[in-house]
Amino acid sequence: MTVGERRWLIAGNWKMHTTYEEALELAGAIQQRCRSLPDVEVVLIPPFPWIVPLAERLRGSAIALGAQTCSAYDQGAYTGEVSARMIAPFCQYVIVGHSERRRLFAETDEVVAAKLRAALRYGLRPILCVGEDLEEREAGATLHVIEHQLRLACEALSLAECKRIIIAYEPVWAIGTGRPATPADAQSVAEWIRRWFVLRFGELDEQLRILYGGSVTAENARGFFEVPDIDGALVGGASLDAAQFCGIVEATRSAKARLE
Ligand code: PGA
Repeated sequence: MTVGERRWLIAGNWKMHTTYEEALELAGAIQQRCRSLPDVEVVLIPPFPWIVPLAERLRGSAIALGAQTCSAYDQGAYTGEVSARMIAPFCQYVIVGHSERRRLFAETDEVVAAKLRAALRYGLRPILCVGEDLEEREAGATLHVIEHQLRLACEALSLAECKRIIIAYEPVWAIGTGRPATPADAQSVAEWIRRWFVLRFGELDEQLRILYGGSVTAENARGFFEVPDIDGALVGGASLDAAQFCGIVEATRSAKARLE
């Protein structure tokens, strides 16, 4: 597989936003506005309660659904948890290890690894988030942090399991700040991540999809899509606006340039 054969993936993480009515309206507007591009996969990642109604609403459309997290457990006495098993009939994707989960809800690398395995057990495609915070970046520890996060999450996986994973490089300091990484910086980390997987899983290299996340907008998306190792975006704030989000989907067109 070559860089040109990897399908783009644009995922909108709605976080804890939208009422039920707003969720239906937003999904409807995205469905209408986002022209279906055969080489782009569009994924909406709403809060848990809207997953089932949106699955009904989007049935037959090209838009896929994801969940924002899942439990490390399959079922049982775990009040408040939602398992990969429950999500799997309605979603194709699940975010694992988002920095907000790591930081605000004390998810350790071990918990992230268990969630990743739970997602894989039920056939979901995990979007594994990795990235350094500002202090780590300023200390020059970016790759060290990412290596640690990748190793703890992925070292026990088989090649077949790794082929189902998507990596999202999300520098913590760029999330929700309006201060994205530069495409060149994102490229150099993405290239390093791809090499890390090649060293461990050989054949995986060209197949692995790597997203960039952190203050992506319709205006700046193009820059990220023109670099060779970034295959899409994990979008937070801008995914709550149909015009912005579809602008990001459209920006993949410019990426044709990287294939020529
Ligand atoms: P942002 O969020 O686009 O609002 O920076 C990205 C994310 O949290 O995945």
